[in-house]
Amino acid sequence: MRRARLGDLDAIMRLERATFTEDAWPEDAMRRELESPHGYYLVAVDDELASRQAHAGSGGADEVDDEASEAQHDESDAAWPPLLGYAGLLAPSGGDQGDIQTIAVDPAARGIGLGRGLMHALITESRRRGIAQLFLEVRADNPIARSLYESLGFVEIGVRPRYYRRGVDAIMMQLAVPPAVTRPAGGAGGATIRGVSR
Ligand SMILES: CC(C)(COP(=O)(O)OP(=O)(O)OC[C@H]1O[C@@H](n2cnc3c(N)ncnc32)[C@H](O)[C@@H]1OP(=O)(O)O)[C@@H](O)C(=O)NCCC(=O)NCCS
Repeated sequence: MRRARLGDLDAIMRLERATFTEDAWPEDAMRRELESPHGYYLVAVDDELASRQAHAGSGGADEVDDEASEAQHDESDAAWPPLLGYAGLLAPSGGDQGDIQTIAVDPAARGIGLGRGLMHALITESRRRGIAQLFLEVRADNPIARSLYESLGFVEIGVRPRYYRRGVDAIMMQLAVPPAVTRPAGGAGGATIRGVSR
C-alpha cells in the first residue's frame, strides 16, 4: 500500500469504471482528488506479481526474449504494477471533520483484508491530521461495504432517500475517530462516520 500519485490515475479509473459503472466519477474529478492538498489517496498494488515479472524479465543471459522484454515496466507505466485497490480521504487542513471519499478493491482481490487495511490507513491518517469526525455515505443496497464500516465503528446518522440512481437510498455514517490503539484491538473503540458517495 502506498500513497497514490497522478501516474496511478489511469489504473484507478479502470477500476473505478469497472466497479461503479454508471456511478463512476469522471476522470477530471478523480484527477482533482489526487491533486488536492486536502486529499489523501492510497493505492494497493501487487508488488509480488511485479517483482516476479521483473525477475522473469531480468532472466538469464540466454533467457532474454521478446516476452521478457515486455515484462519490463517502470513508473511511467500507469498500468504497472497491477492495481488491487484504492481509497481516498478528504480532510481540509485546519478542520476537524473529514470524509471517506471512496474505496474499491478489485473483485479478484476481495475478501482478504485489503478493504479493511485501506480503511484503517485512512483512519490513521485522519487521526494524524487532527480529524475528530469522519463521515461517509454508502448505498443502502451495499451490505458488504456497510458491514465493513460498521465493523470499524461507523454508525448510521441519517438517510438520504433516493440519493442514488434507480431510487437507492444513501446511508450516512459517522465515526468518532478513535485514539491510537494502545491495547489489543477489540477493546472499546469509541468509534462514531458522511463521505463515500456511491
Ligand atoms: C467494500 C470493499 C471495498 C471491501 O473490500 P475487501 O477487500 O473485500 O474487504 P475485506 O476483505 O477487508 O473485508 C472487510 C469486511 O468487509 C465485509 N465483507 C467483505 N466481504 C464480504 C462478503 N462477501 N460478505 C459480507 N461481508 C463482507 C466484512 O465485514 C469484512 O470483515 P471480516 O473479514 O472481518 O468479516 C469491496 O467489496 C469493494 O470494492 N466493493 C465494491 C466497491 C464498493 O462497494 N465500495 C464502497 C462504496 S461505499
